[in-house]
Amino acid sequence: MSTEQILKNTNAQLLDEFNASVMFDKELYDQDIRGSIAHSKMLCEQGLLTKEDQLDIELGLVQVRKEIESGNFTFKISDEDIHMAVEGRLTEIIGDAGKRLHTARSRNDQVATDFRLYVKEKNHSIMIQLKEVVETFVNVASKHTKSLIPGMTHLQHAQPINFGYHMLAYANMFKRDFERFESSAQRNDVSALGSAALAGTPHNIDRFQTCETLGFDRPTDCALDTVSDRDFALEILFNISTAMMHISRISEELILWSSYEFQFIKMSDEYATTSSIMPQKKNPDVPELLRGKTGRAYGNLISLLTVMKGLPLAYNKDTQEDKEGVFDSVKTMEISLSILNEVIKTMKVNIDNMEDACKIGHLSATDLADYLVQKQNMPFRTAYYITKSVVAKADELNLDMSELNIEQIRSSHTDIKDIDEEVVSFLDLRNSMNARNSFGGTSTEQTKVQINKFKSWLENE
Ligand code: ARG
Repeated sequence: MSTEQILKNTNAQLLDEFNASVMFDKELYDQDIRGSIAHSKMLCEQGLLTKEDQLDIELGLVQVRKEIESGNFTFKISDEDIHMAVEGRLTEIIGDAGKRLHTARSRNDQVATDFRLYVKEKNHSIMIQLKEVVETFVNVASKHTKSLIPGMTHLQHAQPINFGYHMLAYANMFKRDFERFESSAQRNDVSALGSAALAGTPHNIDRFQTCETLGFDRPTDCALDTVSDRDFALEILFNISTAMMHISRISEELILWSSYEFQFIKMSDEYATTSSIMPQKKNPDVPELLRGKTGRAYGNLISLLTVMKGLPLAYNKDTQEDKEGVFDSVKTMEISLSILNEVIKTMKVNIDNMEDACKIGHLSATDLADYLVQKQNMPFRTAYYITKSVVAKADELNLDMSELNIEQIRSSHTDIKDIDEEVVSFLDLRNSMNARNSFGGTSTEQTKVQINKFKSWLENE
């Protein structure tokens, strides 16, 4: 072979590889086979395929599936994609009948159908995982409706809350995630099959039948939109990104809480590793990875948004770039949710350290101001300044406000020199937490109301 010929061949092979998606879209083999079986049944019922051919096609496709699942299928770059690979092998097995399968269909509606089926199924399995995570947070919350932890803003001690309430904040985030996947699943429960290349088909097909066989809710309305629409893929990427952001936030807290400075929780040893140089260390690798993997989920979302932004109607090959990111994000989501679930289930909560931390930073300062407003009808701003002098007094005595006795409080400011002794109990940290009994507040009572709401949601969903 001449050098020129060799170069030409190498080039052709590179182009084949560049063009092919089979090495990653083989993930869709099962959806592709189900789609083809549904299509063949419909063709048969519409008189576009004989019963005999339909049966051959169906049995042939079942064999192809077996070959793939047993590892006996050879995926070849020359097949280009999973659709051609399956159809090619089918024709090898059953002969000419295999060539009739592609009547009234195009790879454009085929890939749109397969990918929608995949995303639909992943929406549902991720919802199941999210529900488990919500349940785990609610279970931890139920055990800690009285355990005090400093509630923070700006990562500075603000007001005492209970740890169960803190856990419920995450239960709420993952419940919203669940609802986002659910709403996407409903919106995108549509069958693309029968849209053909871009404009429908002259054959007398029945799109409602294939839709029903595949378990979709309804067929899409406009073929032109259907073959180029990837909103359903963008939605799952966005929903995963948001859930990963929530996972990243709890991971950040787990890392902080398990640090020497906090010591609020202890994660099970499986989720920490030792340092290769510092033998005393335990590093929170697992939550760090959960936090880190959020980056790739965002990347996959931005990547597909960018792929889609300049596409003229209808199908363009750019769209082939839609799959790897979705597969990657889905896998990241699945593993992250199952690991997070175990981390939360197995963490040990150090209630004493959390409560001790509440005695730093005058967490009940707002309670004094609220007391003066409520009991002495003082304008809030005046109460705020008087409270500041009590804070200064406590600092001077090296005490937390919750530890001041009545004399120390009275001597902080002339305007409260006769303040009733009951004020001391208002500054108690647990009383402070329980005083926030407004709807959605942190009191043990309200926390229990919220837990019960979650429990009935978990039972009924
Ligand atoms: N592998 C292609 C994809 O994933 C399938 C559709 C190809 N259609 C076409 N007309 N080239 O998008």
